[in-house]
Amino acid sequence: MTEKRLSNTLLVCTHRRGAPNSPSCGGRGSHEILRLLQEGVRERRLALNVESIVCFGHCADGPTVRLAPGGRFWHQVQASQLAPMLDEIAPMLVCLEKTA
Ligand code: FES
Repeated sequence: MTEKRLSNTLLVCTHRRGAPNSPSCGGRGSHEILRLLQEGVRERRLALNVESIVCFGHCADGPTVRLAPGGRFWHQVQASQLAPMLDEIAPMLVCLEKTA
């Protein structure tokens, strides 16, 4: 049986802004958030891509993560939030089509 699933992607901003006093996701640990999310998705075997992106324009509230396409944002993400985040996302990974 072949299953097609909605192509969901979790986007993690890893941008580090150049100016010394400019807040940015990359300057607040988002590379580690990206790594932990990739690990969590792999462990849970979720049909979810986790990718790095350069800036949502929410720099002051980073690290910023967004479920794409068109999903919600998470701001000021910390490692302790990742398991609940994946718990929230897992039921959204809807099976669109099954073929025998
Ligand atoms: S640096 Fe992450 S949203 Fe701009």
